[in-house]
Amino acid sequence: MLHSRLGFALLLSTALATAAPALAQDASTAEQTVDAMNTLFGKHPGARANHAKGVVAEGSFTPSAQAATISKASLFQGPTVPVTFRFSDSTGVPTIPDGAADANPHGLSLKFKLSDGSDMDVVTNSLKYFPVATGEDFRDLLRAVAESGPKAAHPTALERFAATHPAAATSGKTAKTPSSFARQTYNGVNAFIFVDKDGKRQPFRFRIEPVQGEEILPPEEAAKRDPNFLMAEIRPRIAKEPAKFRVLAQLADAGDPTNDASKPWPDDRKTVDLGTLTVSQAVPNSAEAEKALLFMPNNLTDGIEVSDDPLIDARVQAYAVSFSRRSQ
Ligand code: HEM
Repeated sequence: MLHSRLGFALLLSTALATAAPALAQDASTAEQTVDAMNTLFGKHPGARANHAKGVVAEGSFTPSAQAATISKASLFQGPTVPVTFRFSDSTGVPTIPDGAADANPHGLSLKFKLSDGSDMDVVTNSLKYFPVATGEDFRDLLRAVAESGPKAAHPTALERFAATHPAAATSGKTAKTPSSFARQTYNGVNAFIFVDKDGKRQPFRFRIEPVQGEEILPPEEAAKRDPNFLMAEIRPRIAKEPAKFRVLAQLADAGDPTNDASKPWPDDRKTVDLGTLTVSQAVPNSAEAEKALLFMPNNLTDGIEVSDDPLIDARVQAYAVSFSRRSQ
């Protein structure tokens, strides 16, 4: 199963500005990746090229006491900060049934509104690790899927791709359909770096766990559900009682690779509790609200930095392309 497959104007112009020369070079990779998504999922004007179907909500983040010891980032220093949430299904198909196998991995995007008026984004999904390690390989995986329809001769392009990229055959199986967006664990997949007040640097990966615990549906049960059951369920749920998530950081040990998101770190690695997310209200017009929202994995704040993981920049380039196309 394919991984099924502003500051924001500034953020975008910066992304596009820095991308400009890259666009000439790499942009072709970003443009080709979004083209491959459009080929697979169809072109849907105004929709995201991936994770097109989603729902927006508002809430907050309250840091743990421990968080400030590992990073000097302002959001860990004390007061609760407001957060915008977007839960989503995978693929660029805006009408995909929430219980479809290809709607996995589900996504959770976060925009933290910081005390200095800036914001910081964290963009996660329910995969435990990514199918590939580079943007070029992701483009080629999407293309291989597009060439591997039911009539394709074996070995198909996807089978040949998976033969040289083992995670491409296994990563998708790590994401399963939950009973609610509030009962799923989401992972950052890419590595980032904490910088503390003394300048000490610590690589980590985000993990966002539902306080109520995970609840996964058997695939046949998920397939029988109403096509919009996840989108529809979260509104009354948080109106009745806010949904809560624990934000954790899995810390790398010395020698753990930070530049390959297809390689998960061993489960025994230390995790730190960074604080609690509270999802308290759905926004009135989610479809309108999500149009203006752009979540960028490199939109960080002092105290949290990108690592040498090449997927982060590949994502930023592709998100900028998708955003500029859906804003036309
Ligand atoms: C090279 C790797 C990747 C590429 C090319 C890619 C591409 C895209 C694109 C084009 C979009 C639509 C962006 C928009 O229009 O705003 C998107 C959205 C999204 N992607 Fe990725 N993605 C990649 C890796 C990942 C990873 C590793 C994760 C999670 C760990 C992820 C999670 C998401 C989520 C949650 C959204 C929805 C964002 C929103 O709510 O607006 N993606 N992706």
